[in-house]
Amino acid sequence: MRVIIKKNYEEMSKEAAKIVKDLIQKKENCVLGLATGSTPVGLYKELIRMHKEEGLDFSKVITFNLDEYYGLSPDHPQSYRYFMDINLFNHINIKKDNTNVPDGKVPIEKIEQYCEWYEDMIKKVGGIDLQVVGIGGDGHIGFNEPGSSLNSRTRLVALDEQTIKDNSRFFDKIEDVPRFAITMGVGTILEAKEIILLANGEKKAEIVAKAIEGPITSQISASVLQLHPKVTIILDEEAASKLKRKEYYKFASEAEKKIGLRLF
Ligand code: F6R
Repeated sequence: MRVIIKKNYEEMSKEAAKIVKDLIQKKENCVLGLATGSTPVGLYKELIRMHKEEGLDFSKVITFNLDEYYGLSPDHPQSYRYFMDINLFNHINIKKDNTNVPDGKVPIEKIEQYCEWYEDMIKKVGGIDLQVVGIGGDGHIGFNEPGSSLNSRTRLVALDEQTIKDNSRFFDKIEDVPRFAITMGVGTILEAKEIILLANGEKKAEIVAKAIEGPITSQISASVLQLHPKVTIILDEEAASKLKRKEYYKFASEAEKKIGLRLF
């Protein structure tokens, strides 16, 4: 597990964008797994800049989003499809048909079938090359709340009280936050060939330290990333502030730059 600590949110976002750009340039028809929420907005801004100013080409890129609120239609301003359109897809040359966000309006009796289909679509294109994740205050990745099986697949889940509270900032009132979501499972996420987790701000410091330096537990879904062979955690200094091995991570990433080899 590679941990990169950057000065601030902007630097964190740029570091993540560099990894995405390198992949797109190496493999033009790559498959990206994407997240929503506040954390990746800076990454998406930087990717838009790279497209506009440096000609980064998304015309063959395929994307799959981690999750969607259940009950929200794609044109609902708080839906994750809407979020992706306004924060990224509308500003780059990606084909909308190549972008996949779970459908929050699937009839309940068809959910299981739909989730299997979403997984099949990922397999059909050869799996996810690079998955971007954020981390929830309760340690979730995607909407895999505490207690999600390490083998869980795409499915309908109930959101935890803490997640509903955390995400109420995007809604007029807390009662408007959907209680359910469709999310890729922990097992689905772990199948990505490479994963980057982004976190910024003091509010995330404690959960980040637990996920990176604590034991692997289904009570903190992000901790299972410790099992994956190619994970990069990119943090700003505030989110890194409760890590015990902070100086080691800084030393190792400086050394990596000098010798040009991955040390983690
Ligand atoms: C969003 C997602 C969530 C968020 C997490 C952090 O697609 O899967 O796991 O990444 O809730 O959200 P923010 O970035 O708003 O703090």
